[in-house]
Amino acid sequence: MLKYTFYGHACFLLDDGEYKILVDPFLSGNPQATISPKDVETNYILISHAHDDHLGDAPEIATRVDAEVVAIPEVLTLCTSRVEKAIKADPMNLGGTLNLPFGVVRMVPALHSSGVEGGIACGFVIKIFGKTIYYAGDTALFSDMKLIGERDSIDYAILPIGDNYTMGIEDAAKAVKLLNAKNVIPLHYNTWGAISQNPEDFRKLVTGTEVYVVKPGQTIDLA
Ligand code: NI
Ligand code: MN
Repeated sequence: MLKYTFYGHACFLLDDGEYKILVDPFLSGNPQATISPKDVETNYILISHAHDDHLGDAPEIATRVDAEVVAIPEVLTLCTSRVEKAIKADPMNLGGTLNLPFGVVRMVPALHSSGVEGGIACGFVIKIFGKTIYYAGDTALFSDMKLIGERDSIDYAILPIGDNYTMGIEDAAKAVKLLNAKNVIPLHYNTWGAISQNPEDFRKLVTGTEVYVVKPGQTIDLA
């Protein structure tokens, strides 16, 4: 069983029963957060870019639980600078594939600013437990999402829908089509007023793909 737990905003955990993968662990100061950075457990941390609402508590969590951090080199340098203890780092960049004990992580483009000098924002394709998960990170709609969907058959697309800082519901619905995703999970909305959004309005725009609206603190099985 592959479990998806949503911790609020854009932070989630994948758990295949053996390995835990924490993504964009913004918990301190996250009004939606349902777990303290002191309590979260993980083996790997994936960071899409260096904005505070994504990099978040990654350095402190990584050193506390001895997790490996997967990110671009510029983001890893920033993480390292924030803590005394060494961080186990897996530097990679756009287009790269990393084989890990639980499966595969590919770093794919995102259309967004990076939050760190010389950096670039990214998304991830994660292959775990026989499933292919695409997490877009913060991004606008871009036509090369079609290539991501052609390269891998996407079981679950995890997409921002909040608008303002990322694509909103119309463009996210278009992204679902380009990706040819079987299922979609929206996030990055309703954390603050600027990204308020009704996920049921998003659901109405999506046809032929199952939409899972997951509440902060909720866990679902990715079947
Ligand atoms: Ni951002
Ligand atoms: Mn963001």
